[in-house]
Amino acid sequence: MMDSLIPRRKLEPGEEEQIASWKQQLLANPYRAYLYSYPHKTAYRPFPAPLKLSDLWREETAETFFLYMHIPFCGARCGFCNLFTLPDKRTSAHEQYVDALQRQAEQWAPYVSHKPLARFAIGGGTPTLLEPALLQRLFEIAENTMGMNADKVSISVETSPETVTDSRLEILKAYRTDRVSMGIQSFIEAEANAIYRPQKPQEVERALELLREAGFPVLNLDLIYGLPGQTVASWLYSLERALAYEPEEIFLYPLYTREHTIVRPEQIEAQGEDLRMACYVAGRDRLLSAGYEQQSMRRFAKQDASLTKTLLPYSCQEEGMIGLGCGARSYTRRVHYASRYAVSKRATASIIADYVSAKCYDEADYGIVLNEAEQKRRFIIKAILHREGLSSADYTARFGKGLLEDHPELEWLVLGGLAEAAGGIIRLTAEGLAHSDAIGDWLISERIRERMEAFVHL
Ligand SMILES: C[S@@+](CC[C@H](N)C(=O)[O-])C[C@H]1O[C@@H](n2cnc3c(N)ncnc32)[C@H](O)[C@@H]1O
Ligand code: SF4
Repeated sequence: MMDSLIPRRKLEPGEEEQIASWKQQLLANPYRAYLYSYPHKTAYRPFPAPLKLSDLWREETAETFFLYMHIPFCGARCGFCNLFTLPDKRTSAHEQYVDALQRQAEQWAPYVSHKPLARFAIGGGTPTLLEPALLQRLFEIAENTMGMNADKVSISVETSPETVTDSRLEILKAYRTDRVSMGIQSFIEAEANAIYRPQKPQEVERALELLREAGFPVLNLDLIYGLPGQTVASWLYSLERALAYEPEEIFLYPLYTREHTIVRPEQIEAQGEDLRMACYVAGRDRLLSAGYEQQSMRRFAKQDASLTKTLLPYSCQEEGMIGLGCGARSYTRRVHYASRYAVSKRATASIIADYVSAKCYDEADYGIVLNEAEQKRRFIIKAILHREGLSSADYTARFGKGLLEDHPELEWLVLGGLAEAAGGIIRLTAEGLAHSDAIGDWLISERIRERMEAFVHL
């Protein structure tokens, strides 16, 4: 479909072939890059000189902020995971870490207290690896130091099956957590073992029973498809088990193999790309028939999931993400910053040790400064990979330029049948959504791609 944003026009000689060949290349490799944020953290580098956080946050234009706390500990590292996390179950290590996070919060609070918080999330790693008393301290820091008002803020916490206990859920309930998200990946023990996530299905079901009893407004479950040894039938079995608990949200992730993780690309190649695409299609169709709405390639949600709070508005396009903790990223409109990123145990342990022993957290020394061209790309990537789509009016309101004037190549998505333009909005078609990871990758700028490719793992 076309509209005035992309008027129907006669193609130039050769253009049709050009678009067909571009599309063929795009579809040939649908699983290229999961862009949950742009630019990717492998594009971050040490800043030539540290940036003062007081300056960065003073100039931030977002009306409300998002507070994120990162807990970089897990019971063990799963064989597919390249997140910033360390296998460390020692309460003493967790305690020291929360002490450091509190110091950091105390130093940052004056920089960010001029705007209210609208969202709060605790992620990881595995935040619920922490003992209940430490978990409680995180909420206290959010409320007492960072000024969170739980009546107006949506609160989300990540968990994993073996760390779900009554006493931890009581803390989450007491602080009015709205959303709990649990990684399951597969309900089949052999599949979990194949990705080095030793996890018994009975353990998963026990955690799910407790979570449903606790009655959080939104329960999200993560599943992965394309696992070694998985078939479309076994994938649908896991999905059915998840559906039996009627989660308000489900994320379906295609398996990616990453540098420095145990699961190897050959294990996926042995199955062929088709397994992932076949699982995606089967999973998507099952969720649509069960009444879920598809919000992106990975996210499916029930429409009627209603929160009991009246939330302050937060627009993720406005940035204002305050990331506390080691491994958390912070986003202002112009600067994204974080601690250094690593996957290996040795390097992760040393970055956490530096964080825990630090006295001063008032400067950013690692990240990326986004020039206007990159801010525009970030806006486009975030909008187009979601169901709401990319609004040309919103783009112009933000950047003062025409969307197609800046990025004429977006027309190819529409001409190639991967997107539709209607009412001034470009929205991916079903085929486009299925190929979101190839489209996102295509939208990465040359400059960022060069930085990502030159990244050297610690
Ligand atoms: C932020 S992670 C952490 C979740 C939580 N720590 C857990 O494992 O239960 C969120 C989800 O990303 C997905 N994920 C992480 N690494 C992945 C990979 N290499 N391929 C596919 N999905 C992945 C998993 O489904 C995981 O649950
Ligand atoms: S997938 Fe979750 S539990 Fe496993 S290592 Fe990554 S963060 Fe930890």
